[in-house]
Amino acid sequence: MLLEIRDIHVHYGKIEALKGISLDVDEGEIVTLIGANGAGKTTTLKTISGLRPLTSGSIAFDGKDISRLPGHKRVLVGIGQSPEGRGCFPGMTVMENLLMGAYTRSGDFSKDLAEVFDLFPRLAERKTQAAGTMSGGEQQMVAIGRALMSKPKVLLLDEPSMGLAPMLVAQIFSIIKEINNRGTTVLLVEQNAQQALQIAHRAYVLETGKVVKAAPAADLLDDPQVREAYLGGSLGQH
Ligand SMILES: Nc1ncnc2c1ncn2[C@@H]1O[C@H](COP(=O)(O)OP(=O)(O)O)[C@@H](O)[C@H]1O
Ligand SMILES: [Mg+2]
Repeated sequence: MLLEIRDIHVHYGKIEALKGISLDVDEGEIVTLIGANGAGKTTTLKTISGLRPLTSGSIAFDGKDISRLPGHKRVLVGIGQSPEGRGCFPGMTVMENLLMGAYTRSGDFSKDLAEVFDLFPRLAERKTQAAGTMSGGEQQMVAIGRALMSKPKVLLLDEPSMGLAPMLVAQIFSIIKEINNRGTTVLLVEQNAQQALQIAHRAYVLETGKVVKAAPAADLLDDPQVREAYLGGSLGQH
């Protein structure tokens, strides 16, 4: 197992945001976390990337306990995160943003840059444009591209489709699938459950800081409770 999360509890002050979450991500998978606002999805990703401390429980990555490893070292072992919101550096160019993603690495990363431009041709066209002047969808591409430049074994994505027009939503999901096809494991947080379940291998449903369901993604697309709560009711299409 690439990522093994065991019974993690995480607090903001006295508020317990994660109440004992366990989940696994195997090499090569796309795993998605779905759930309503406030369920604990972002907190789960931030805890994996080391931005929030654990109260208790453990996180293992590639067979090693990383529960107490500082965030910047987690990037080095292969955990790449594209944060909630677009999280690019608005005053820097597209190219500078991408290079920021590789700052922990030494050696030649021109191949990885070429790969990012291959996934996102738009970014190649806009290399010298200030990221802050790009459209929402383009900024999302910059954020994902930047995360890829750290050459992660697992890519953590927090609501990459948020706020995007439907056509761009479809494009982002197909690029995530392509990233996975090219060998990167993906842990995907989405409110857009329908599309997330369509590209994911497995899924976890979070409710108020707990996992209430874990199943192959295809099963959840047909699960009446899940359809009712997250897929726009029993008449939703897929
Ligand atoms: N910075 C914060 N300070 C206090 N409480 C927070 C903070 N961030 C999140 N929370 C609380 O933690 C819980 C989980 O939030 P979050 O992980 O952001 O959920 P999700 O991403 O699923 O919407 C919520 O109850 C939220 O109000
Ligand atoms: Mg969130």
